[in-house]
Amino acid sequence: MHNTVTIGEDLIYVGGNDRRIALFESAFPVPRGVSYNSYLLLDEKTVLFDTVDIAASEVFFENLGHALGGRTLDYLVVHHMEPDHSASFVRLLQTYPDVKVVTNQKVKGMLANYFGFEREVLLVKEGDTLSVGKNTLTFVVAPMVHWPEVMFTYIPEKKLLFSADAFGTFGALGGSVFADEVHFERDFLDDARRYYFNIVGKYGVQVQNALKKAAGLEISTICPLHGPIWRTKESIAWYLAKYDVWSKYLPEEKGVAVFYASVYGHTQNAAEILAAEIAKCGVTDVKVYDVSVTHISELLSEAFRYSHVVFASTTYNNGVFISMENFLRDLQAHAFQNRKYAVVENGSWSPQAGGLIEETVGAWKNMRKVGEKVTLVSAVKEETREKLKALGEAIAEDVKK
Ligand code: FEO
Repeated sequence: MHNTVTIGEDLIYVGGNDRRIALFESAFPVPRGVSYNSYLLLDEKTVLFDTVDIAASEVFFENLGHALGGRTLDYLVVHHMEPDHSASFVRLLQTYPDVKVVTNQKVKGMLANYFGFEREVLLVKEGDTLSVGKNTLTFVVAPMVHWPEVMFTYIPEKKLLFSADAFGTFGALGGSVFADEVHFERDFLDDARRYYFNIVGKYGVQVQNALKKAAGLEISTICPLHGPIWRTKESIAWYLAKYDVWSKYLPEEKGVAVFYASVYGHTQNAAEILAAEIAKCGVTDVKVYDVSVTHISELLSEAFRYSHVVFASTTYNNGVFISMENFLRDLQAHAFQNRKYAVVENGSWSPQAGGLIEETVGAWKNMRKVGEKVTLVSAVKEETREKLKALGEAIAEDVKK
């Protein structure tokens, strides 16, 4: 049965949710599910903005048929070809064979590659407009937010931006589809940060370019492809500010994230002593993560969140422990930078992990080491404890600067 939501007098939400999905993009746990947003504009022409993942296609087609109310579908605007938004494309074409596809050249190539779709499309590029009645669609390219073909649509008459993956979040919609009608900071922000850094975090420069374009537009509503719709001045300003900080790779909060990789608990012990020493010095925001346990998408998000990070790892096969090495590789792949870091290493006969971590992390952009690397051989001794205390004090002092 259909379950549409009216966004404005002639704009209807026709998307759906998936709460059964285990891993978004086969990579990221989404315990709170995910929404696939699609919007229908009912003007002199009818315009659908993107389709949905196959998981939400049944309710999507019910919604679309209901919202059209017997009218034909004139246009489909394709902003992004990733299958979480394009998987229902072929069925849409079968259901509405006269629909005109409106998109850019890169999407056109991908439509051929994915679906063998070779029909004529209405090709648009940066700044092109399409009048559909009272409303004018203005197209804005946004390459690499999140794929190279991505574009946004702006409707000046509504001051409304269809922002593709940008400003989206993990987390299914429940009840309201509006950010101002949910507890976004409490219920969505951690997911939004994790979504941002894992999905588009690598492309900070491109996100900054998109933000600069957005700054030149008067925007009163943002309709993303995932998560709630933004429609109040305060909430839009708040979320744009988050995106600005995130895409500049700046810390969102002053605090410390301690990441440890421990086999028999001694490196964990050192990490927890260090965290406690930092807290004793008055730093209230200290988090400790076992990198072998917490999902890497959350580790990445938390590393980007804080101003200071600690990497504590045991030595393994003369290198860094597997899960820590994997985490460092993921941070590097996402252009992690602009942070203060400290290092703790362990090794029962030849501690080497710390030097390797310093070599890796020290080569990243604008990373500054705080304090001296602490080495433990097997277990923490009183002498090591003193070194951890000194490191904790140095980190705390730096955080409080
Ligand atoms: Fe929601 Fe890049 O797809």
